[in-house]
Amino acid sequence: MKAAIMGYGTIGSGVARVLSENRDIIKAHALDDIELKYVLDVRDFPGDPINEKIVHDYKVIVDDPEVKLVVETMGGVEPAYTFVDAMLRAGKNVATSNKALVAAKGAEFIATAKENNVNFMFEASVGGGIPIIRVILKCVTGDEIESIYGIVNGTTNYMLSAMAEKDVSFDEVLKEAQSLGYAEKDPTADVEGFDAARKIAILTSLAAGRQVDFEDFPTEGITKIEKADIAFAKENGMKVKLIAAMDKSGDSYFVRVAPFLVSKESPLFAVDGVMNAILVRGNMLGDSMYYGSGAGSLPTASAVVGDLVEEARHVNKHVDFTWEPSKVKLLDPDEQSFRYYVRKGTECHITGMMKEHDFLSGEGKDCDHFIRLL
Ligand code: HSE
Repeated sequence: MKAAIMGYGTIGSGVARVLSENRDIIKAHALDDIELKYVLDVRDFPGDPINEKIVHDYKVIVDDPEVKLVVETMGGVEPAYTFVDAMLRAGKNVATSNKALVAAKGAEFIATAKENNVNFMFEASVGGGIPIIRVILKCVTGDEIESIYGIVNGTTNYMLSAMAEKDVSFDEVLKEAQSLGYAEKDPTADVEGFDAARKIAILTSLAAGRQVDFEDFPTEGITKIEKADIAFAKENGMKVKLIAAMDKSGDSYFVRVAPFLVSKESPLFAVDGVMNAILVRGNMLGDSMYYGSGAGSLPTASAVVGDLVEEARHVNKHVDFTWEPSKVKLLDPDEQSFRYYVRKGTECHITGMMKEHDFLSGEGKDCDHFIRLL
């Protein structure tokens, strides 16, 4: 079976490596050999054996009926949207790691895939190598999923862990994370929480079977976290973590991304450094947590290739699941109740449980900083 990769960056080159190094094991699982035929990129790679597979026009792949499997690892919504749409309409299965594309166009692509009797899969878009999407779509299917709490951004988890371990400021740790290649030159999507927001929007859409737009729920990153907050957490046996949270209430959902103070009793407490973990609560299952490498070339490529194997096993058969374009009802986030850590001047304390709007109109209004408790 012939495959193509669109975008030969960190993840795309990882996919090529997994396909080559694990060719035999992939063949055994896919029940067919998966051979890489094309790599679409704007660049050439002289001296690299991949160069002979490079094409610059996506229509070469669209027009080749031999190619049944296409990987999209370009990132961003355009031109990825145009290319993926064309591939599905040409009868090709697509696997992507691109969370921006999935969060914005997932429901539409699933409908297009169904119309064309192919598959659109996106395991690598959340949690890197952690197979969390398969858990929601194929495993915890006898349960009502009551909540999902995830540490789904490796960059910010690394930064918060380093701030606690080394007693350094946000600015210092950001510079270090950038020099180690964990944080990008423009770190906005990670440190402002937008990357995590896209990921919890995807997970909630799948749990609910309908669309959740990340613009519709509150997102707060880690840029306001100061050394004093980290020190208070440490003294009180807690850690600050950026949590992507979903809580179901009736047929509606509270969704938010924010820093939370996490106590030792939570399984998320032990998740440090670049690792990711997603805690899923089912009404029958209770708690289950999925932990692993949430980013990076090979862990993410491993998830993409897992999708290719699944697609190779279902050529000419659309594997259906529900993600309708109509929107999920999101609840007013100010109606949710939390305990809060409050910092005013050099004074810090933790409040009792109260509704967000009571807190925001009282103590929350004139404090210097607050963080919710998980
Ligand atoms: N920037 C993301 C992270 C990459 O740090 O987790 C993986 O989606």
